[in-house]
Amino acid sequence: MNRRKFIKGSLSALTLTGLAGYGLYEMNYPGLSWAGTAGRFTSSLFVPPLLENLSDDPDFARFSLTVQRGNGTFLPGRPTPTMGYNGNFLGPTIRVKNGWQVKINVNNTLDERTTVHWHGLHVPAQWDGGPRQVIPAKSNWKPEFTIKQQAATLWYHPHAMGLTGEQVYKGLAGLFIIDDEFSENLDIPKTYGEDDFPIIIQDRRFFHNGHFAYVQNMMDVTRGVIGNRLLVNGAERPFLDVLQGKIRLRVLNGSNSSIYRIAFADRRTFFQIATDGGFLEEPVPLHSILLSAGERAEIVVDFARDELGANSTLIVEQLPGNRFEAMRFRVARPAEKKNRLPLSLASIHWHKEEDAVKTRNFIMETMSMGRGRMGMGMMGGGRLTINGKKMNMQRIDEIVKLGDTEIWQITNRSAMMMSMPHSMHLHDVQFQILDRNGRAPEAREKGRKDTVLINPGETVRIITRFEEYTGIYMYHCHLLEHEDDGMMGQFEVVS
Ligand code: C2O
Ligand code: CU
Ligand code: CU
Repeated sequence: MNRRKFIKGSLSALTLTGLAGYGLYEMNYPGLSWAGTAGRFTSSLFVPPLLENLSDDPDFARFSLTVQRGNGTFLPGRPTPTMGYNGNFLGPTIRVKNGWQVKINVNNTLDERTTVHWHGLHVPAQWDGGPRQVIPAKSNWKPEFTIKQQAATLWYHPHAMGLTGEQVYKGLAGLFIIDDEFSENLDIPKTYGEDDFPIIIQDRRFFHNGHFAYVQNMMDVTRGVIGNRLLVNGAERPFLDVLQGKIRLRVLNGSNSSIYRIAFADRRTFFQIATDGGFLEEPVPLHSILLSAGERAEIVVDFARDELGANSTLIVEQLPGNRFEAMRFRVARPAEKKNRLPLSLASIHWHKEEDAVKTRNFIMETMSMGRGRMGMGMMGGGRLTINGKKMNMQRIDEIVKLGDTEIWQITNRSAMMMSMPHSMHLHDVQFQILDRNGRAPEAREKGRKDTVLINPGETVRIITRFEEYTGIYMYHCHLLEHEDDGMMGQFEVVS
């Protein structure tokens, strides 16, 4: 593949997201392995197993997660040191139902601290698994909480101060699926591993020796580690045999710092049915979805009109960056039944602007640093802050009153040449987007969200209600290199 072409391709992407000064991103580090030798759709998509529920009580769930080191085989003959939950890379899918009481035994076998954060879960602060709930090396953590939220595709990952990016990069991430009465009765594909699949998309960079090439310098921190190889559920270019009908994909942008535009090579229309925190009101027809790091979307793709044996390739474009043939679907068998997609999915309770008692302002900023006007030079980094501050565990940045509805107005202010997108994430709550630069969000974003892309120069207003639990939670940029560098703050919910 022609490198020039790649760069050209990504330039249009730059204009789309308003990113400037990005010509340098294809840097080479000594010993960095270039992409292109990946398998050509010869191995089948790895579907993370459902984590076994060890409880017999129907209202209870007991799970066990072991955080461990392992080895991956991404480059032939060159093993990659990895981390995984109950395995070498990634983790099993945790599946629970609204109302369940859940107990999880987390066993950290690593020689370093970690945490396990339930991203998107409404959960008491003490069990949130953020940087305040450290699990020291070689020790256990036993969170227990009740699921009090609607069906959604969430995920779990480590969140230890300063170590999040690296531990996720090495493989610590898994899906956390919530079902409820409603989702179980909806006429949509819902058999895990049959017509309902997790699609965890991540990019990685490797050294020739097979090891991951994580952060190498300040530039990697400022712009995020952008990989030149793409993994879907932990492997490059897998294929998936599907039935000649509708399938559901639970897509997670599990990358550290990439924004992905995801589409099919044949430009087929598909339907988005859910955002981060649950179903949309109605299926939204799309040709592509845009997900920033940490965001999820559930989509339904229909292969009913494809011939048996036909192929369809999923394309993932990194913004800014490479364009990958991510995986291939093969229409392998006739569908037994043809479910129609319901015209309406859910009714969403919309927060009203007039119910908000407060508007808070957040400025996410990348300022040039270093001598003179260095901009994004080879070694140049940026000072990444929220409201001019870096994360400090001893400081509570915002105090929120329990039961209050609030508007958070988030601005991405970027210095010239330091223009970076950010991905704002709030713990504990699901919010709704009021507007982007004053314009109502597109249909695909009109739902429950916990993570939102903030483009350079953009101001996004979100609204949420802080319910039920008091305690200290995080808000941060979900570009993990930014988060680890301190682009994070703490809000405390008080009664
Ligand atoms: Cu997905 Cu605070 O994290
Ligand atoms: Cu989170
Ligand atoms: Cu950021």
